[in-house]
Formats: sequence, C-alpha cells, structure tokens
Amino acid sequence: MDPEVSFANLVNVAANNGAANMPRITPSNPNASFLFKKVNCTNLNSIAGTPYGRRMPRSGPPYLSVAEQALILDWIQQGARATRDPDRVFGNGYDGRGGL
Ligand code: HEM
Repeated sequence: MDPEVSFANLVNVAANNGAANMPRITPSNPNASFLFKKVNCTNLNSIAGTPYGRRMPRSGPPYLSVAEQALILDWIQQGARATRDPDRVFGNGYDGRGGL
C-alpha cells in the first residue's frame, strides 16, 4: 500500500484471500471491496475460521475511526478515482483538496 503503487495493487485487483471472492477495491461498490470489509466489519475481529480473516489493521485496536472508514467508503462509492479532483467534495463532508 505504498503511495506509488497502492492504486495499481488495489483497484480491480483480486484479493489474495480466495475465500473473499472479490477484488480488493471495486469502484462504486464498497460491498464488493475486500479492503473496505477488512476495515469496517466488526465481525472480522478475531473470529477464527472466517473466510475474511482478521479485521484490519491487524495491530488494532485501535481500528480505523468511523470518519476514516467513511472517507474510504466515499472514495469507493464515487468511483475509486486515481487522481484527486479539486472540485469534488465527498458526501460526508470531506473534500479532495486537503485530506482529512
Ligand atoms: C489500516 C491499515 C490496514 C489495511 C487497510 C489493511 C488491509 C488489508 C487487506 C485489504 C488485506 C487482505 C489482502 C488480500 O487478501 O488480498 C489484509 C491482509 C492482511 N494484513 Fe492488513 N491492513 C492494514 C494493516 C495491517 C497491519 C498493521 C498488519 C500487521 C501488523 C497487517 C497484516 C495483515 C496480514 C497478516 C494479512 C493476511 C491475513 C488476513 O487477511 O487476515 N495489516 N490487510
């Protein structure tokens, strides 16, 4: 997930976890985006044997704040664009100009 390569490694790329049966990021579809499920779903937290593995970040808690999860959700829902759009304001109040 280094900045130079993260987009190419995430968007429309199959997850290593075959049981997930979905790409890491599917533009416009958070429910089909494994990365979102890994940071959002509380039932991923240490339930042995789930096909989705552990909740991320694996070093958590703390996990991502709701605001951080919302930023990822908004980015995916709005098409998981490769570049920042200076005119676009995210639905939950974030904008593409200054980050969080
Ligand atoms: C917010 C930060 C993080 C995000 C967004 C994240 C995201 C992900 C995603 C999307 C996968 C599934 C990859 C795939 O199957 O293709 C994954 C797996 C994994 N991550 Fe993370 N990760 C984070 C932090 C961490 C940290 C801090 C560690 C280690 C301390 C870690 C260790 C692992 C391991 C061992 C796996 C494979 C096993 C599993 O799926 O549970 N991750 N992570």
